[in-house]
Formats: sequence, C-alpha cells, structure tokens
Amino acid sequence: MTKEEEQKKLVGEKAALYVKSNMIIGLGTGSTAYYATLKIGELYKNGIIENINCIPSSIHTENLAKELGLPLTDFNLHQEIDITIDGADEIDESLNLIKGGGGALLREKVIAQASKRLIIVADESKLSEKLGTKWAVPIEVIPFAVGVETKYLQSLGAKVELRKNKNGEIYITDENNFILDSDFGVIKNPGQLEFLLNRRAGIVENGMFIGLTNRVIAIKNNELLELT
Ligand code: 5RP
Repeated sequence: MTKEEEQKKLVGEKAALYVKSNMIIGLGTGSTAYYATLKIGELYKNGIIENINCIPSSIHTENLAKELGLPLTDFNLHQEIDITIDGADEIDESLNLIKGGGGALLREKVIAQASKRLIIVADESKLSEKLGTKWAVPIEVIPFAVGVETKYLQSLGAKVELRKNKNGEIYITDENNFILDSDFGVIKNPGQLEFLLNRRAGIVENGMFIGLTNRVIAIKNNELLELT
C-alpha cells in the first residue's frame, strides 16, 4: 500500500468511529470515503453498531454498500441524515471544499445539505491555503446548456474543459449530466463564486461546498489531525 493509500485508510477508519447505532448515514464517494464505508460495513457486520440505514452518494457507492450488506434507505423514507463521511479534492482553512473529482458532486451536495454533521476525510495532498490552488471546480451542467454555460464560465475568467472518460467519450454523471471542469485559478471569494454559479439555469450544481463541513479528519506532517 502506498503512503497516500495508508493515509486514506487511516482517516477513513477514524471517521467511521463517529458512526453510532440507530443513525441514518450518508456514504461518500471516492477512494478515501471508500475506507470509511468499508469500516462502517465491518462495524455493522460485527454487531458493534446496529439499526443503521445508509444513503449512498453515487451508484458506485451504492454497489459497494450492497456488497457489504449495509441497509439502504432514501430521501422518500428519511429526510434527515445524522452523519455523512465524504472525501474532498481541496480543503481550505475555513473548511470550505472543492468536491466532484469523482463526478458525484450533485448527490454529494444534496446529502451534505441534509446532514446534521458532515465529516470530511482527506490525505495530506488535499489541504490548501486557498481553494483553486490545486483543483479546477467541477460544474455539473445539463447537456442542452453546455455551450452557453461554457461561455458564461469563461466570462467569469475560467479555463473550461468538458470532462471526458479515458476512452475519449464524454463523462456522464449519475443524473445524466455533463461536467465542466472550470479552472478559476486561486479563488479569492469562494462564497461569491458559488453565488455566481448558482444563478445559472443550465448549471445544475457546482463543486464549491461552502459552510457545510463540521469536521475534517486529515493528515498533516505525518500526523492525524481533526479540524473543526
Ligand atoms: C467525488 C468526490 C470525492 O470525494 C473527491 O473527488 C475525493 O476523492 P478521493 O478520496 O478519491 O481523492 O468529491 O465526487
């Protein structure tokens, strides 16, 4: 296992310990949240936590949860999530995030907004002084509006790239939309950018997660730290 993989496992497993019996749990997507889901599966299988129900943030995570035998629910049955554990692509000092590297930003934000507590798990590479230093912002658009929203994002100063799969085909999200990876450079005012992105009809959701995170469990200088 690489050092990065070890860090992901460490933070994921640590975060899973916040899950208790009788909770509704939001399951994140990505290679770090994966370890939290695995651990939750283990705690459930061994009877250490009981009577839980999970809402996965992607079809990928749903399949994993099914393999692990985790009980699933949805927003028709439960409208409030006790705790969600998810990953992030970039995290600033105010615990604002860029998410969506794995393409699940829309369901992830729905889940984050419905959660009483959002715990973000991250290896060392994710911590950043300012959002936009390391990552472009993934922006989910309806296929009909790709051209016009690309022009809008460019007018805000972004370099815009339509996300493609390795085979060159356009990447399609779980909700059948496209993603425009939009590089704004260092983002001086994340809240304002989120506002400008939320104004557009063709933009379904964006990867700016502002003011949603309660706790970050991460590695810095080889030490596990918890930021609140
Ligand atoms: C998926 C996400 C992921 O949580 C984010 O991309 C981090 O992934 P990883 O843990 O694999 O680095 O937002 O949409």
